[in-house]
Order: sequence, then C-alpha cells, then structure tokens
Amino acid sequence: MVVHVFKTPEELAQAAAMVFAAQIAKKPDTVLGLATGSTPVGTYRELARLNRLGLIDFSEVRTYNLDEYIGLEPTHDQSYRYFMNDNLFNHINIKMENTHVPCGTGADHWADARAYDEAVEAAGGIDLQLLGIGHNGHIGFNEPNDKFIYGTNIVKLTRSTIDANKIYFPTEDDMPKEAISFGIGGIMKAKAVILLALGKGKAQAIHDTVHGEIDPKCPASILKAHPNTIIMVDEAAGSML
Ligand code: F6R
Repeated sequence: MVVHVFKTPEELAQAAAMVFAAQIAKKPDTVLGLATGSTPVGTYRELARLNRLGLIDFSEVRTYNLDEYIGLEPTHDQSYRYFMNDNLFNHINIKMENTHVPCGTGADHWADARAYDEAVEAAGGIDLQLLGIGHNGHIGFNEPNDKFIYGTNIVKLTRSTIDANKIYFPTEDDMPKEAISFGIGGIMKAKAVILLALGKGKAQAIHDTVHGEIDPKCPASILKAHPNTIIMVDEAAGSML
C-alpha cells in the first residue's frame, strides 16, 4: 500500500486521473471498477477534460460500478446510475452498453448480486478499482461487520452512512436504507486499487486503514493485504497519518 498526500483536492484529482490515463493507454479495453459519491467528482471532471483533449480514449473501456441503492430506478436523480451518467459517462466517448451499475430494482436482489459477480468474472475481472471511503471505513457499501463479505451482497446501511448520504434526499425517509454492493472479494481481486479520500471527516478512517490491524470493523483495512493499492488523500484526510 502506498500513500500519497496532496495539498489540494484539485492536485489529487489530476494525479488520480493520470493513473487512469496510464492504465487505459496500456490496455485500451481496460475494465474499470468505479465509485460514486462526492470524492471522485473532481477526478471524473478531469477524466472528461483529458478525453476532450484526446488524451484518453474510452471507446473500448468497460466499467462496473460498486453499488446502487435498493429501490431506486436508474432514472431517479439520486440513483448511482444517474450519478455516473451525469458526472462521467455523458461527458466521455464510452459506449453506454459497456457501462454497468448493479441493479437495485430487480425481483430477486441476491440473484442480481450473483449475476453481477459472474459478469465481472466474464469480463476478466477488474483491472483498476476506484474507491472512496466512508467515515466508518466502508468501501463500496461494505459496512463495518464481524466478517468480510466476499461476493456482491445486499447491505443494510449503517447510521453513519445514512447520516452522510441523507443530505442528498428531501428527507431521511426518502433515502433507501439498503443497497446492493460489490463485495470485498471482487475488490481484492482487482489488479490495482486506487482509494481517494478528501476532508477531515475521513482522517480517522484513513488512519485506521493505513495504521490499524486488518479488521472487518474497518473494511478498508483489508487493502493492506492487496499487492497493488494506492491511497491518495488531501492534507485534511491525511492529518492523522
Ligand atoms: C460509492 C461508494 C462509497 C463512497 C463513500 C464515500 O459508490 O462506494 O463507498 O465512496 O461512501 O462517499 P463520499 O465520497 O460521498 O464521501
């Protein structure tokens, strides 16, 4: 695990986008694992800028997102499919059919979860996995737990996550309390992982990830066992390192 601390979120976004650019230059049909949330927005903006300049070509790239709220249609403006279209896919030359977000509205969520893992396997696995981190150390929506959950799974969101994300909904009642999340096993099988964190609110989780024991109570701590993980933080998120 290597850790880089950046002075500003803008510098972090530029550096993260460069990791993607290098990966896609090396393997044009790269399989990316992608995250939503506030943290990667600057990186996605930078990727779109590099794409406009002709410096990254997404035409053969395939993507698999980490998670989706249970019960939100892809057209809902707080669904993660909507987020990805709005923040990245609509601004780059990716083929929409090559982009995948877990389905949160199927009749059988566990069948959808299994099918998602099979689809990622069939694509050859994730080449480069982008992660944010929750205040509680979650990655994807894999919340603190007694054990690491291997496969894509249906998660009950914790109070910490509900508090962090309810601001995007008119009221807390409107926010789904369950999500479908790519599992820890799928993340760990990614050939490379890049985890981004911004702001003081993430400082404890970053400290526990980097300095703590591997412990399912801080799911991101499993990344210590990953052979190729880069952690990029701003000075606030890195303030307890
Ligand atoms: C989102 C995801 C989550 C977020 C995390 C941080 O797809 O998987 O793990 O990365 O909750 O969210 P932000 O960036 O909004 O602080």
